Amino acid sequence: MSSLNIEQSIDSKFSQPKKGQGESEAFLSVLKERRTYYQISKNAAIPDSRVEEIVKYAIKHVPSSFNGQTTRALILFNEDHDEFWNSTAGVLASMLPADQMEKTQQRLDGFKAGHGTILFFDDESVIRQQQEAFKLYADNFPIWANQTNGMAQLTVWTALEKEGFGCSLQHYNPLVDSVVQNKWKVPLTWKLLAQMPFGIPTGEPGPKDFKSLEERVMVAGKKD
Ligand SMILES: Cc1cc2nc3c(=O)[nH]c(=O)nc-3n(C[C@H](O)[C@H](O)[C@H](O)COP(=O)(O)O)c2cc1C
Repeated sequence: MSSLNIEQSIDSKFSQPKKGQGESEAFLSVLKERRTYYQISKNAAIPDSRVEEIVKYAIKHVPSSFNGQTTRALILFNEDHDEFWNSTAGVLASMLPADQMEKTQQRLDGFKAGHGTILFFDDESVIRQQQEAFKLYADNFPIWANQTNGMAQLTVWTALEKEGFGCSLQHYNPLVDSVVQNKWKVPLTWKLLAQMPFGIPTGEPGPKDFKSLEERVMVAGKKD
């Protein structure tokens, strides 16, 4: 399916006139179902090209401050995915004592056992342009870029899970920044923020506790 097709098929399904109550349920339930999967395999739920379309769709449609569109992604499949996790292990092995590395290696092997990894970046050149253009908000632009990046991460994470993959979110930046720059020649202005390994799940997510919403959400002026 071309990227135009995914746009068209999603648009034709969901671009109906806006409806009222109850229409958010499908979205909210997919959001709730998204979990962290550490046990993943090399098997693919969908073709790599469809993963690419989903990432592009998310990056395109997620909102950004002043529509700055600061989020960038590098999608690594197959050998490139393996190479990323091998390189990450190499970097960490050069820094950690051997006894600590054993556990870390197991963790990294778990991510490498997956089918692919999506690296998320902010483009600092766009952030700098925004800071120049709107000096009043200069301090906020890196924060807003991070926020929109997180929105894109959640969107991709949720969509890939809906397609049958399990994902997790990892943060080996900045330790692996130079490896990524050297191997995949991403622009120097791309700042690595997160890594999302994915693959068909081979285990269930762990238990999850929830804090009381009474402590987390305040309401004022409610009428019904
Ligand atoms: C901003 C953010 C950073 C996270 N960083 C990591 C991480 O570095 N390593 C990791 O294993 N999980 C990481 N997680 C996953 C969380 O631990 C996980 O989402 C949380 O425990 C809730 O579990 P769930 O994803 O199954 O709902 C991160 C999640 C978020 C939203």
